[in-house]
Amino acid sequence: MSSSQKKACIGFFAEKKEIYNKCRAESEFLGNYAEGLMGGGSLFILDIGCGDGGLLNRLVGKTDGCFGVGLDLCRTLIREGKKRYGNSVQYLVADAEYLPFRKRIFDLAVMVTLLHHVVATTPKKTRAMQKKILNNAKDAIKPEGKLLLRELCPHNKVLSILLYWLSRCFAHLCLPVAEVSFLTEPELLRIVDSAFSTTRVLDRFPWSEFDFRIGGRIIILAFRT
Ligand SMILES: C[S@@+](CC[C@H](N)C(=O)[O-])C[C@H]1O[C@@H](n2cnc3c(N)ncnc32)[C@H](O)[C@@H]1O
Repeated sequence: MSSSQKKACIGFFAEKKEIYNKCRAESEFLGNYAEGLMGGGSLFILDIGCGDGGLLNRLVGKTDGCFGVGLDLCRTLIREGKKRYGNSVQYLVADAEYLPFRKRIFDLAVMVTLLHHVVATTPKKTRAMQKKILNNAKDAIKPEGKLLLRELCPHNKVLSILLYWLSRCFAHLCLPVAEVSFLTEPELLRIVDSAFSTTRVLDRFPWSEFDFRIGGRIIILAFRT
């Protein structure tokens, strides 16, 4: 992502912080999946693109001895998260492209609707960057660690390309739109497979009217080894 694209992304989410009120039910829903993976043990969890950290706080709050780190580009959302949830998780303003951690330290990484916000100057560079972010997630988790990923996948490639160019045009006209590059389900599975040894689709469903129109959400569990 160029620095102006990053700035625009941060600005978009800082303005849209009220959408996180709508995301809370979704965090609850997704939390059930993540809890099933945690098995009740004390875990070190990383949320990449955590927003205000709703999901992470839910996970850490449910199990004794869990420690959570939430990372996001947007300082405003992190500030909101601290106000709302207190200091039970550690927040970090950082870029998923350059994770500031030692390798192989987390038991579980979660990445919820981050990937489609990773947009570079060309579609080819965008895919390369999305792959890099998945590889960073893999490097951050222990060999037996897992990644829980949730993405919105459009029905087909034509729709994905259309949304990419529309969002780029609107963003260049300074309209309040985030640039997006959605992956279709086969594309997403391909790039997750290229980073992780095993990939399992846990669920697919439309969460909102918007999702239903453009495609559906997919929940993927990926194993490092
Ligand atoms: C759609 S929101 C999802 C937030 C959260 N995962 C949730 O489900 O509530 C996408 C988030 O990714 C963050 N983001 C986008 N690009 C990022 C990057 N390169 N590194 C870290 N965070 C990023 C945005 O700031 C935003 O908070």
